[in-house]
Amino acid sequence: MPKSKSKRVAGGNNKGGVGKSGWVANVAAALADEGCKVLVVDVDPQANLSRRMGRPYRKEKPLVTTAEVIKSGEPGVAADAIVPCGWGGIYAQRIDIIPSRFDLENRISEAAVIGARGRLARALQGADDGYDFTLFDCQPSLGHLTQVALAAARYAVALVEPEYDGVEGAVRFRDFVADEVNRTEMGNPELTFAAAVPSMVDGRLAAHAHHVQSLPSIFGADKVWDSIPARSVVKDAADEGLPLAELGSRSAEMREVYKAAAQRMIKEFA
Ligand SMILES: Nc1ncnc2c1ncn2[C@@H]1O[C@H](COP(=O)(O)OP(=O)(O)OP(=O)(O)O)[C@@H](O)[C@H]1O
Ligand SMILES: [Mg+2]
Repeated sequence: MPKSKSKRVAGGNNKGGVGKSGWVANVAAALADEGCKVLVVDVDPQANLSRRMGRPYRKEKPLVTTAEVIKSGEPGVAADAIVPCGWGGIYAQRIDIIPSRFDLENRISEAAVIGARGRLARALQGADDGYDFTLFDCQPSLGHLTQVALAAARYAVALVEPEYDGVEGAVRFRDFVADEVNRTEMGNPELTFAAAVPSMVDGRLAAHAHHVQSLPSIFGADKVWDSIPARSVVKDAADEGLPLAELGSRSAEMREVYKAAAQRMIKEFA
């Protein structure tokens, strides 16, 4: 069972493109705005989070990545891969990252190797004790790499795009985490499904309103957190690899949204 002083949270959904990486990046910023020290771990070979947080893979200046951390799996070795995120201002001091790159794919073939699922948990032992939160960005899958992240996490959060397939993917993620056999096999019986966060919610769509309304009966009212609206400023920040704060006043509404999410995390994951 992973023991850490940092609150470890994995964001996931079996479906792709639902706002997982967007949530991790913007909640990390909001937690830092609240004074927290945050480690983000990119566990997706797409490495979208790494680029968005200013740590793209550069051949001429390679960084140690999640791929090497998982390949080794030695206790505490993750400390060697931690770098400050590439954002400026307070974020440079308060948010660190273990970046990813495409060859994290190569770790997937090790799924059948004994102990492979627990390698990130072992590698993080002691390495994230100095953080308030460790956030894992998962790939859109319930396969090996997501299980590697879940084996290290204390809390699982589903990002729920309020569309039929987005809700189904979130339910599969919840059900995977809720299954005691899966948690035991991951060596992490204390892993808790903590929240379903409606993400990329378009207020103009009746279908979105319908699906958001259905979530309390599916996940339990106490587990459905406030919605993250779909706003072009979030996409623009992601595309430019900048924190929302650097997009000026037009990011004010969304910064408030992520601030509320961060405050809820601080309260609930005490
Ligand atoms: N709240 C939002 N409003 C508008 N656009 C968003 C929002 N959140 C994320 N996006 C954008 O939507 C696209 C998909 O989001 P994101 O990459 O965060 O999803 P994902 O679930 O991590 O995808 P994948 O499954 O490929 O990892 C991206 O272009 C992202 O910038
Ligand atoms: Mg992603």
